[in-house]
Amino acid sequence: MFIKTEDLTKVYKTGTAEVRALDRVSLTFEKGKIYAVLGPSGSGKSTLFNLIGGIDRPDGGKIWVDGEEISSYSPEKLTRYRREKVGFVFQFYNLINTLTVYENVQAAADLSASPADIKTVLELVGMLEHKDKYPLELSGGEAQRVAIARAVVKKPPLILCDEPTGALDYQNAKKVLELLERVNKETGATVMIITHNQAIARMCHGVVTLRSGQVTGFSENPAPIAAREVEW
Ligand SMILES: Nc1ncnc2c1ncn2[C@@H]1O[C@H](COP(=O)(O)OP(=O)(O)OP(=O)(O)O)[C@@H](O)[C@H]1O
Ligand SMILES: [Mg+2]
Repeated sequence: MFIKTEDLTKVYKTGTAEVRALDRVSLTFEKGKIYAVLGPSGSGKSTLFNLIGGIDRPDGGKIWVDGEEISSYSPEKLTRYRREKVGFVFQFYNLINTLTVYENVQAAADLSASPADIKTVLELVGMLEHKDKYPLELSGGEAQRVAIARAVVKKPPLILCDEPTGALDYQNAKKVLELLERVNKETGATVMIITHNQAIARMCHGVVTLRSGQVTGFSENPAPIAAREVEW
């Protein structure tokens, strides 16, 4: 397996209140597959990604990625892990508005030891012709394709997408899903997608459901449908 969590626990304390954002979550994910993570608001989905992506640290339990226990990494090692191994895609793109499309992708490439060719990646996401535009000159769908290019240029084995279609209309959401499917097929990266859209699970090899910080479901899908066939 590629990712394994064992009794993963994260507790947030605000004043006297304590929230178990994750409560002994044990999961495994295979290399090169696409997963959906479902669950109501506040169920711990983003918390899970923050821990697997090395943005945050667990209060209990362990995480292995590619045979390495990242939950025991020093802060420096965790930063290196996050830079080199993980591409992030967020609901609201998180592009740098003062940089062009090209420069946004270049900024990510500059942090990587052996990045992919920037133009090739912009071509892959269909944004090469817009390379000199600024993020505020793009549609939501175009901005998300640039965000995917920024994630992919590092050639990460893992791509974590937190509601990547949450702010998009149907047509643009479909394009983004088709692109994530293509990235998975062409780069072999494991792709994990947090979504509120149950239909997206049908294009995934595995589906995790969280509720109140606990895993309430894990199912494998032996025959995922093509992203273009997903309807909602
Ligand atoms: N930095 C934080 N400080 C305090 N509580 C937090 C923090 N981050 C998350 N939480 C709490 O942890 C729980 C899980 O939050 P999380 O963001 O993982 O949920 P989610 O499933 O991603 O929800 P959504 O679908 O709304 O994005 C929630 O109760 C949330 O309020
Ligand atoms: Mg969230």
